[in-house]
Amino acid sequence: MGRAFVYVILGGGVAAGYAALEFVKKGVSHGELCIISDEPVAPYERPALSKGFLLPEAAARLPSFHTCVGANEERLTPKWYKEHGIELVLGTGVKSADVKRKTLLTTTGETISYKILIVATGARALKLEEFGVSGSDAENVCYLRDIADANRLVNVMQSCPGGNAVVIGGGYIGMECVASLVINKINVTMVFPEAHCMARLFTPKIANYYEEYYKSRGVNFVKGTVLSSFDFDSNGKVTGVDLRDGTKLSVDMVVVGIGIRPNTGLFEGQLTLEKGGIKVNGMLQSSNSSVYAIGDVAAFPVKAFGETRRLEHVDSARKSAKHAVAAIMEPEKTGEFDYLPFFYSRVFTLSWQFYGDTVGEVVYYGDMSGSAFGAYWISKGHLVGAFLEGGTKEEYEAIAKATRLRPEIEDLTELERQGLKFAVTV
Ligand code: FDA
Ligand code: NAD
Repeated sequence: MGRAFVYVILGGGVAAGYAALEFVKKGVSHGELCIISDEPVAPYERPALSKGFLLPEAAARLPSFHTCVGANEERLTPKWYKEHGIELVLGTGVKSADVKRKTLLTTTGETISYKILIVATGARALKLEEFGVSGSDAENVCYLRDIADANRLVNVMQSCPGGNAVVIGGGYIGMECVASLVINKINVTMVFPEAHCMARLFTPKIANYYEEYYKSRGVNFVKGTVLSSFDFDSNGKVTGVDLRDGTKLSVDMVVVGIGIRPNTGLFEGQLTLEKGGIKVNGMLQSSNSSVYAIGDVAAFPVKAFGETRRLEHVDSARKSAKHAVAAIMEPEKTGEFDYLPFFYSRVFTLSWQFYGDTVGEVVYYGDMSGSAFGAYWISKGHLVGAFLEGGTKEEYEAIAKATRLRPEIEDLTELERQGLKFAVTV
C-alpha cells in the first residue's frame, strides 16, 4: 500500500504550518503536497502552550491558535488544508525513512514516496531518566512539548488548587510555566543547577531582574543543585522532591523543563548531522539534495556569525520554513537564507526581545529598577546583540535593525550614555 507526492513535509508543527502557507502562496497544485504528523491536530503555534493555554480564565484553545496566526497570517484550519488540496495525515508517525529510495514508512504500514522531502520533526523534551532520576511516568509529573502534555498540565494544576509545585529547570519552559502556575495560584519552588535562571541567554544582571520579580510574586528559588530522587505515595504519585544538596520539598505536582533533543533519529547514517541537528546549506538543503530540513531540527549557516547554528525558537522555524519553500519552488529567484536570530518571551506582565548573539562585552542601559531596560553585546568593535525588556513595537524594531546593521562601536561609555537612543537613531 502506498501513495506518492511531489512534496512531503515530515512533522506537523510550527515549521510545517508555515511551509504549507508558503507552498500555497507559491502556487502548489492540488494533490502535490502531503504533511505527515504524529500529533492528532493540524499544525499550531506551539508557544501558546506555555502561555495563553495555561491561563485560569479565557484560556486559548484550538482552533484559535493554529498556524499561521502567530505571524498575523491566515489561520490554517483542517478545512484550509482540504480547500488547498493538501493531504494532512494526522495521528500517524513515520517510523523509518529511506532517502535513497525517497520513501517513508508510517506506523500504519503505509509507504509514502516523495520527490522532495522537508524534515520538520522538531524536538523532544529530555526526560529525567536521561539524568539518572526515575519517576517521569508519575501522574503528577508534567513535561511540556505538545498539546497532549499541555492538557495534562492543566488537569494536574486543577487537581491541586492552592497546592505546591516544584519546577525543575531554569530555562524557557521553567520560567514560563512558573509564571503560569503562579497565575493559577499554585505555590512554586524553582530548582535549577546554574547560579541564575536562563543561563543560556541572560547575564547574571539580567537574570537577577527576573528572579527578583519572581520572588516578589512569591516564587522560591533553589539554585546550584539538581534533583536526586522523588518520594511516592502508595498510588505512585510524587509527594516529595529530594535534591542533591539535601533539600526536601513536599509537592502536589512537578513540572520538568530540562532541555530538548532534536528528532534526527530517522536520518542518522543517511544525512550529515551537526550541532545535534540535520546540517543544511543556505537553501535549507541537507547532504541529500532531495531532502530539506527546517525549524528546531535544522542546523543552518547563520551568515552574521559565520558559523552553523541550530536554533530552538519559533521565529527561525517560521522563517526557515518560508525560505526552504522559496528555494524549492523558485530556486532561481532565491538567495541564501540570511537570518538574524530572534528570541522573545512573555511572563506575567513582563515581555522581552533579543536579537543577534551574546558574545563580547555587555553594556547595560535603562532603569533596571523600573520597567524598561536593556543590554547590548559588543564583539570585535561591533554591536552584535541587543536585549530589551518592556519596549514598544518601534523600540523592538529599532534594536532589531541596529543589530542587523552591526554598527562599529568605538566608545562603550558613550553607548551606555545613549542607551536605547543609540538603536533608535542608528
Ligand atoms: P515542532 O516541535 O513545532 O513540530 C515538530 C512536529 O513533528 C510535531 O508535530 C511532532 O509531533 C512531529 N514529529 C516528530 N517526529 C515525527 C515522526 N517521526 N513522525 C511524524 N511526526 C513527527 N519559541 C519562541 O521563540 N518563543 C516562545 O515563546 C516559545 N514558546 C514555546 C513554548 C513551548 C511550550 C514549547 C514546547 C516551545 C516554545 N518555543 C518558543 C519553541 C518553538 O515552539 C519551537 O522552536 C518550534 O515549535 C519549532 O518548530 P518545528 O516545526 O521545528 O518543531
Ligand atoms: P532550556 O534549554 O531553555 O533550559 C533547560 C534548563 O534545564 C537549563 O536552564 C537548566 O536549568 C536545566 N537543567 C539542565 N540539566 C538539568 C538537570 N540535570 N537537572 C535539572 N535541571 C537541569 O530548555 P527548556 O526550558 O526545557 O525548553 C525546551 C525548549 O522549548 C527549548 O528549545 C526552548 O527554546 C523552547 N521554548 C522556548 C520558549 C521561548 O523562546 N520563549 C518558551 C518555551 C520553550
